[in-house]
This record gives sequence, structure tokens and C-alpha cells, in this order.
Amino acid sequence: MCGIIGYLGKRKAIDVLLDGLKRLEYRGYDSAGVALYNGESILLRRVKGKIKDLEDSLNKSPIDGLYGIAHTRWATHGRPSEENAHPHRDCKEEIVLVHNGIIENYLQLKEELLKEGHKFASETDSEVIAHLIEKYFEGNLLSALKKAIKRLEGVFAILALSKKDPFKIVGARSGPPLILGVGNEEFILSSDLTAILPYTKDVYVLEDGEIVEVISDNFKFIDFSGNPVKKEMKRISWDPLMVEKAGYKHFMLKEIYEQPMALRETLIGRVSIERGEVFLGEINLSVDFLKKIEKVMIIACGTSLHAGLVGKYFLENIAKISCEVDYASEFRYRDFIWDEKTLGLSISQSGETADTLAGMKEIRKRGGKVITICNVDGSTAVRESDGAILTHAGPEVGVASTKAFTSQLMALALFAIYLGQIKGTIYRENIFEFLQELQKIPQKAEIALKNDKKIENISSKFLSCSDFLYLGRWVNYPIALEGALKLKEIAYVHAEGYPAGEMKHGPIALIDEKTPVFAIVPKDRVEQKVLSNISEVKARNGIVLAVTTEGNREIEENVDEVIYVPKTHELFTPFLTVIPLQLFAYYMALKKGHDVDQPRNLAKSVTVE
Ligand code: BG6
Repeated sequence: MCGIIGYLGKRKAIDVLLDGLKRLEYRGYDSAGVALYNGESILLRRVKGKIKDLEDSLNKSPIDGLYGIAHTRWATHGRPSEENAHPHRDCKEEIVLVHNGIIENYLQLKEELLKEGHKFASETDSEVIAHLIEKYFEGNLLSALKKAIKRLEGVFAILALSKKDPFKIVGARSGPPLILGVGNEEFILSSDLTAILPYTKDVYVLEDGEIVEVISDNFKFIDFSGNPVKKEMKRISWDPLMVEKAGYKHFMLKEIYEQPMALRETLIGRVSIERGEVFLGEINLSVDFLKKIEKVMIIACGTSLHAGLVGKYFLENIAKISCEVDYASEFRYRDFIWDEKTLGLSISQSGETADTLAGMKEIRKRGGKVITICNVDGSTAVRESDGAILTHAGPEVGVASTKAFTSQLMALALFAIYLGQIKGTIYRENIFEFLQELQKIPQKAEIALKNDKKIENISSKFLSCSDFLYLGRWVNYPIALEGALKLKEIAYVHAEGYPAGEMKHGPIALIDEKTPVFAIVPKDRVEQKVLSNISEVKARNGIVLAVTTEGNREIEENVDEVIYVPKTHELFTPFLTVIPLQLFAYYMALKKGHDVDQPRNLAKSVTVE
């Protein structure tokens, strides 16, 4: 997913745009560019590679201007190259544009424009928009944009400027996010809050079907038909420091260490330990409606999907309610049956993942209710849900999700207790027991983090391994999936997460000295079963690394490496067992010299299908 930014204000525009691109880089980082108007002409600079490469190029031969737009890319149409990098221009190089999204009918439009004599300089879908604006331009950039976007099919967040109608930036949204930050004599337009926060907390979030025009001292919103749109200003609670590394080598390591804080913040204000009660007033659904719910349908992508899988065990065990979990990219095309006794629950760190948003739309299309667990207030998932349980993990910048995952588990545990509480399917003493244990989880996470050094040393022994198997059962089966995903995401090592009981039906064929097995085997109802699976691996000369509960010493004779995490309620072990797996992947990636925060080919939130 790309990141786009625009700046018009009193500061040095190139500095704000470069700083903004650095903060948006986690959205896509294969090429980048900037365009500035200097009162006479539009200056453009684009590079293949990272923002650092763009910065180096600008240091060598600087450009600056009064205001401008910029882009960091995650390629969809056209391989990463200088020509395919944004901003894109029209034939006369009088209009420049940056785009996040996919234009599905770009080939037809390109053909039409070619017939009209337009010349194209790139393979991208986005360049078509610049030529469409040129086609409809009669001196007013806003109305040309309005006409151009009427021709587009697909999803887009766009920013454009023109030297023929200068001192303004226009933008439009249909799908991927676009936010206007209003500061003191300055305006910042961006794909997300991280690039706006250093300048202002006062923002306007564009909805789908809205256009913005920013001029030197003012701004306005219209809809795609040109009608004025009145919008509420939103003040963001996040602190600008939250998007800094705070002395850590990587955002991912910082965010792994922020998990105790994120867990505490997600719990605070939502429980009364004394009264044994959970409060989730942010769910805008009546108690009567929730009482009738007999099934929860969870949809999500990536790490959020794995959180959903743990949530299923929480809902079945705590609220005694059936639960189904599906990949949003699959769910959105299923002919699923929906009834009024089912509640949809989407999980998304960013709240902008296209497949998850589409899944939510499909539920609502069938008259269903869907709430969301999300980490970004004001995001599309939050605004399009029937209530949002916000995880208060703070901004998550590392592409591989960590603190958002454990905070999602906390939100899911609270939601399960809340639903059980409302439906009367959970005994009061159990609520007390669960809440007392959840309250201790943040501190136990701090203890689990103390394995850091040990895990760093263990990782050195496995750098040459190119395949890993992660095994877990019951609530830790999703943790096996998550551990494997982390190793794939940032260390680029092939890894499979598997239900331990399933190993003998196939993956056991992979077992040898070169394919280590990471077994998640805390003291719980299935420990003995996982121990037998470990013996099956050892019987075939396999190497086993185990994550288990503090004090479970007898396991040491059966495995090659063991990492201990604090004891907790058997249902809540995932909060802790995942932490060593996050650290293991981190150190494997670090020692392989990979870019831990911006792993190749990935992006923080995928806002196109
Ligand atoms: C991927 C991210 O693009 O999207 C993952 O790299 C993330 O870290 C997944 O888990 C889903 O994102 P979200 O924001 O919907 O939770």
C-alpha cells in the first residue's frame, strides 16, 4: 500500500514532505518521489528504492518549492522504477499527481487517451488520472479533478496540483484513507496520522466520495457531485513521541517491549475487578440484541486473523457461544448464510485493510451487525462498524504486528466475558477469576520479555536453517501460526504453523536435523498430547525448541532448547507464549541483516484487494 502526503504552509515544504515520507514508509517502500511548485514551474524528483535514496538524490542536487506533494510506493501495476514512481504528470507537465489504490479500468481509459494523442511515460494505472485531469482542465483544478474521478473504477486516494491553477492542492478519496491535518498556518494531507502528528492533532478524515481543496489560508470539502460537505474536526489522542523509536534499534523491538503498556491501556477503564464486571459501552448494540446472539463470525487478515483464532477459543470457553473465523479475503466472496442471531466481528490493527472492510460491507449488505476490534480511532473500520473496541496500543509502525496482536487478544478476552455476562452464560466467580488473571497479564508479559538475551543466543544456532515447523494445540495452535508468520515476514525463512496433532498426517515427513520444530507447550489441558508429538519429532532426530510454563523442568530432557514464560490461566497462555516467538523472529532477521521494520514486499496495511 502506498503512502501519499501533501503540504502547504509556512515551513520548508521539502523538509515536511521528506519527513512525512519517512513516517509513511512502512506503507510501501520500493520507490518514491516528490513534486514542488516554486512559483514558476513544477520541480519533480523520483527514485527507485527507499526514502533514503530520494533524500540522497535531493542532497546531491536540491530542489524546493512553496508547496508540494509526495509519494512512497508499494508496486501494483508496473515494476519498481523511476518512471513508474509517483508523482505522475500530464503531457504538458503542468499537472502532477500522487495516487494510492488501484484503477481497474485504466487500460480502457489509457486506450481512449492514447487515441486523443496523450503520451504515457509509465506502465502504471495511476498516470491515467493525470491525463484525465489534463483532458478536463479548463483553468480550474478542482472541477477537472471532479470530472476525472467520475471516469475511474477502482479505489483511490489522490492528491494533485497544477501550475496553471497554483497555490492549491486538491485531493479525493474512494477507498484508501486520506486525512487533512490543520495546523497553525499550515495544512498537511496524508494517508495516515503518523505523518500529520508531528505538526497538529486537529484532523478531518475524508469519507469515501469526498474531495478536498486546500488553498494558502483555507480549505473546503465537496462530494463527488460537487455539493459542499460539512465535516467535524477530530482531535487525535496520540502523542507525536509515540511515533519515534525511543532509543530502540527498531520500531518492532520497541513495540514488542511496549506490550505490557499496550495490554494495560487496553484493559484500563473497561473492568471492575471488585464488582467482577466488564464494560464495553463502545459497542452500539442493545443488550437485548446481544442477548439473542448465538454465533460470532470473525473476519480478519494476517496477524489479526491469528488473534481472531485465539478469540474463538475465548468465546466458546467463556461466553459458551459458537464462533467461526475466516480470512476476510475468502469470506468476502463466500455465499455465507447470515441470520439475525449472528454478530460480525472484524479485527484490524489499521482499520484500513481492504479485504476486511469489504467483508464488513458484505455482512451489512445482508442486514447484519458488525463490530470491530481496531487500533486506529477514526479509521474506516471504526467508522463503518456498529461499535469499535479500540485497542490502546498506540501507533504500530513496524510492519510485522506485535503489540497490536496481544492487545487484540485482551480486547477479545474482554468481549467474551462481556458477552457471557450479558447472556448469563458465565458464573460470577469465573468472571472474577478471569479478570484477576487478565489484570496480571501485563506484568507477566514483562517477565516473559526477560528471555530476550537467551532468545538472541538461541537464534544464533539456527541461522543456517531454511525451514521451520511451529506446533501448538488448542489456544496455542494460532500461536504456532503466528510464530511461523513472524519468521516468514521478517527473516524470510520458510515456516509452517500446524496443529500439533495434525503433524503425523503429513508434515512429519519434513522432520530432519535441518528442519527445527518450535513447540508451544505450556502446562494446560493438552500438554501431554504436545509432549507426545515432541517425542515423535525426537524419534526422527528432529531438533525441538519449546516454549513452556515456568517451572516445567521435566521438559528439558526431551527438547534441545526451552524458553519459560510465567504461569497463567490455561486459556490465557497465548498472551505470553507469543512473545518469545516474536523475539526469535526479530533476532533471526536482525542477524541476517534484514530491514526488520520494512521487510521486503510487505506493507503495514493493504488498502487494495
Ligand atoms: C499486513 C501486515 O499487510 O496486514 C500485517 O503486514 C497485518 O502485519 C495484516 O497483520 C492485517 O492488517 P490489519 O491492519 O488489518 O490488522
